Amino acid sequence: QHPGWPARLGPVIVAGGQVTLRPVRFRDAAAWSRIRLRDRDHLEPWEPTGRGSWEARNHASNWPSLWTSLKAEARRGAMIPLVIEVDGQFSGQLTIGNIVRGALRSAWIGYWVAKDLGGQGVATAALGLGLDHCFGPVGLHRVEATVRPENLASQAVLRNVGFREEGLLRRYLDVDGAWRDHLLVGLTVEEVMGTVVDRLVREGRAALP
Ligand code: ACO
Repeated sequence: QHPGWPARLGPVIVAGGQVTLRPVRFRDAAAWSRIRLRDRDHLEPWEPTGRGSWEARNHASNWPSLWTSLKAEARRGAMIPLVIEVDGQFSGQLTIGNIVRGALRSAWIGYWVAKDLGGQGVATAALGLGLDHCFGPVGLHRVEATVRPENLASQAVLRNVGFREEGLLRRYLDVDGAWRDHLLVGLTVEEVMGTVVDRLVREGRAALP
């Protein structure tokens, strides 16, 4: 096993409920598919373009192969694929990817949260837990994220956990059917005073049980 995998993180309490993170499971198929089919309009503008229709890609029958590839990447030490639970219910995903060790010790982080939980601090709490995990048990020095300039909610989340803007990546990623510009944000361990979750608690954005 690799440092920081598998992991169960949290809880952190926000307006939406008690937020915890845990590894993806084979039996997540139904919950994953139900939310992703229901929330297509909320998710599709921000996600990498896939092959086939949204319905086909997000059908429950597609989860086993996705789960298998996520677990394989995790076993290789390249990825930490987590489910965001709110009060014990599947509510989204947080993924730490492209974990590189050696002199870089870096990774990217990405996430989505079910639409009906929006604006209740869930992504902020999940990202706080994920970053503290990266800088703690995983042993990374830097975490980055990329976000479309149009995605104001995600930019607010990134800012609120302490990410700094580093630049604009032109035509960076094939998202929602076209090459989209993305803002690059980064955070290194030296910039985190204590932990990210402590900072969220200090700022009144989250509480600990
Ligand atoms: N304009 C500006 N700010 C907004 C808007 C908006 N239209 N909508 C929400 N916000 C702000 C909120 O006010 C809040 O900031 P505040 O705490 O300073 O007031 C923040 O955005 C939302 O914080 P949370 O409640 O913690 O976030 P939430 O749980 O609603 O999740 C997320 C946000 C993840 C972006 C969710 O809407 C989602 O899943 N969207 C679709 C998928 C997606 O965009 N994923 C991120 C891709 S980029 C990446 O992964 C790095």
